[in-house]
Amino acid sequence: FFISCSSAWSLHVLPLCLTFLLTHADKLLLWLSSIFSGHHGQLSLSAVFLDEYRDRLFLGGKDILYSLLLGPTSSESKEIYWPPLPGNREDCIQTGKDPQTECANFVRLLQPYNRTHLLACGTGAFQPMCAFISVGHRGEHVFTMDPLNVESGRGKVPHDPSFPFASAFSGGELYTGLTADFLGRDSVIFRSMGGRSTMRTETDQKLLHDPKFIAAHLIPDNDDRDNDKVYFFFTEKATEAGDREGSIHTRVGRVCANDVGGQRVLVNKWSTFIKARLVCSVPGPHGIDTHFNQLEDVFLLRTKDERNPDVYAIFSTISNVFQGFAVCVYRMADIREAFNGPFAHKEGPDYQWGAYEGRVPYPRPGVCPSKITNQPGREFGSTKDFPDSVLQFARSHPLMWRPVFPALRQPVLVKANIPYKLKQIVVDRVEAEDGHYDVMFIGTDSGTVLKVIALQGGNSLEMEVVTLEELQVFKRLLFSSCSSRQQAVFVGSPAGVAQVKLHRCETYGKACAECCLARDPYCAWDGSSCSRYTPNSKRRFRRQDIRHGNPVLQCVDQSPGEDLDVTEDKVVYGTENNSTFLECVPRSPQATVTWLVQRDDRKDEVKLDDRVMSTDQGLLFRRLFRHDEGVYICRSREHGFTQVLGRITLEVLQGETVDELMARDNAGLSDSFKDRAAAGGYRAWTPCSAYGRGGAPGQLGQSRTWFKDIMQLIGPSNLPHVEEYCERMWCNDKLRRKHKSMLEKYRQAQESARKARSKNSGERNRTPRDLSAWEE
Ligand SMILES: *[C@@H]1O[C@H](CO)[C@@H](O)[C@H](O)[C@H]1NC(C)=O
Ligand SMILES: *[C@@H]1O[C@H](CO)[C@@H](O)[C@H](O)[C@H]1NC(C)=O
Ligand SMILES: *[C@@H]1O[C@H](CO)[C@@H](O)[C@H](O)[C@H]1NC(C)=O
Repeated sequence: FFISCSSAWSLHVLPLCLTFLLTHADKLLLWLSSIFSGHHGQLSLSAVFLDEYRDRLFLGGKDILYSLLLGPTSSESKEIYWPPLPGNREDCIQTGKDPQTECANFVRLLQPYNRTHLLACGTGAFQPMCAFISVGHRGEHVFTMDPLNVESGRGKVPHDPSFPFASAFSGGELYTGLTADFLGRDSVIFRSMGGRSTMRTETDQKLLHDPKFIAAHLIPDNDDRDNDKVYFFFTEKATEAGDREGSIHTRVGRVCANDVGGQRVLVNKWSTFIKARLVCSVPGPHGIDTHFNQLEDVFLLRTKDERNPDVYAIFSTISNVFQGFAVCVYRMADIREAFNGPFAHKEGPDYQWGAYEGRVPYPRPGVCPSKITNQPGREFGSTKDFPDSVLQFARSHPLMWRPVFPALRQPVLVKANIPYKLKQIVVDRVEAEDGHYDVMFIGTDSGTVLKVIALQGGNSLEMEVVTLEELQVFKRLLFSSCSSRQQAVFVGSPAGVAQVKLHRCETYGKACAECCLARDPYCAWDGSSCSRYTPNSKRRFRRQDIRHGNPVLQCVDQSPGEDLDVTEDKVVYGTENNSTFLECVPRSPQATVTWLVQRDDRKDEVKLDDRVMSTDQGLLFRRLFRHDEGVYICRSREHGFTQVLGRITLEVLQGETVDELMARDNAGLSDSFKDRAAAGGYRAWTPCSAYGRGGAPGQLGQSRTWFKDIMQLIGPSNLPHVEEYCERMWCNDKLRRKHKSMLEKYRQAQESARKARSKNSGERNRTPRDLSAWEE
């Protein structure tokens, strides 16, 4: 079993599941399992690092650092008081800043540094500072800092606690995207620490134009470490968007980790920085796409292939008429392709932006010096060897012409006109019975966490979004991070930290159908309860159907306390003059199958010919006649032992196809349909229809509502199963008697499914589990 959000932890790999957003407010630290409560009531959580190797959660707040040792039942906490350096608080207040929300040491950065130490940096009352914190080895709970060993944090964290900021730590060096001056005007990408000289971007709006950094990650290109690149995700003013004032675009930018700047030009400045636009849009009316331009959060879903993580990103619209959010997923291959494509170019002020068509100097800007560039005759072993022409070109053409489109060219999730904002995302890849599913945990500004999966519809490109759970955690969320070791998502707010379990299968009820309808890829019916699904487990019963949530197929024999036949009773509909198939596969390949047909209490062996053929998988009617109607019994024989495997009622429809009938039913039965049905022109399949096989009068309406719910749960692509389902539930007297209690269970299941899945928000009443009381 593999959860990618926490694959190999090591010092040079970034905290994989970590995203955080900073604001400030004062409330108690709170640990949902009441493991920990803050000591001073003034935490103002502003940074977090989840250390899966040491099973510890490090928190940074206002003038304070916490270490929580995560145990199975309790957790132990330690703290370090870390105020600004003497005099700095007073200086800050003198400049007119706010004593409470600005002139304190707000911890913004917590990164693993080496085997025993963390690097922590804080705003230090507008005098950024960094320190090393001794955290000890795995298994010991050390948490100390030498207050004298503090160094400047300039370029490592912003001065202002409210300014956006992104960082990545790799190879002993710190990469940051931030504003690095007191006034917050100098937007740069920095590299500091380690042995090499500090690197930065030139001050030039072409390179960075009022950027808002969201995330930074080191992602290798191939096996050659010289090709390692650090990617920055940010929004900025888009010069190429033309005159439209305030046009913001989302970018992915990157630098080579081995960039050391130029020799004469770009000394100690990035010579490999390039950037491309990340597009996240949906087609709008009149052919004009609606763009989600503002990046809110990024989550890197690491896979076994460390070069190709999936990039999950939350976007919002900038428009003040339309407030919408979208989640788009990008593939590294598409990002690399944009960087390998043409550069964006503008000949002069009066020209349009276009693709650069002239000669691009060698080594192509954006390419790292490596074995490839360091060939006899072309020895570019370092960016200092790059010709001036390359550096000049890099400086004047940082933007790529082609944008990066998301996988499938569309968002996996779109939310519009909702009463909250999507702010945070962490994603967990879950192995399920029929493949893997990416479960998104999305934090909102109203303090809820949505647990969502997006499924791609069978033959359409439409995404179906299933909200599995919705939890009210805090009033406001600041960060979330995901731990597979703890099987939990940690969410934080100014008020504190809460632990949300990745799965709570037991809450999906006590019946197979409920478990199945929940469609949670973490969970499966194991024969007696809804429990954590583990692929490749030896357990016999694993019932799961995430794609359709169809309990009929999964749970037919799983109703506890019912004495069910070994055989399956099914109803199959065929259309006159068309082909149809009655499936029956013997459990052993050695068995021989015979088919019997029962009509008016007479059982005959089915006459096989060119039209009706027995196959390994079942009985095939190449052309169906009306007189084929009947109950078909599939019997296997092996070693003299005969067993009935299935009983299939075959009904023959005339004329219109089932789908057409369905369409009619959905729109309410048309009069002409009713007339024709009454005249016997149709054997309408409608649950408990005019034939009254199932039903007491008055039940029809109820069934129909019920049926619509089921339709929603199962989806129109699964029509045949719906028929089966409804037929079983309502129209077959024998089964009805048998499944009376099962029906009740399905009703309950439907009810709890309705609660668990508020499919489109607002459409149904949302009843999140309210835990906000904890906050008080
Ligand atoms: C980790 O870094 C700290 C700070 O530079 C240093 O004091 C400590 O000795 C280092 N530990 C190891 C194991 O390298
Ligand atoms: C026969 O079945 C196929 C597949 O279900 C369907 O597309 C076709 O319309 C049917 N033909 C008739 C005459 O019902
Ligand atoms: C099926 O075929 C028969 C003979 O060709 C024809 O009389 C009948 O109308 C057809 N039924 C339908 C529903 O197409």
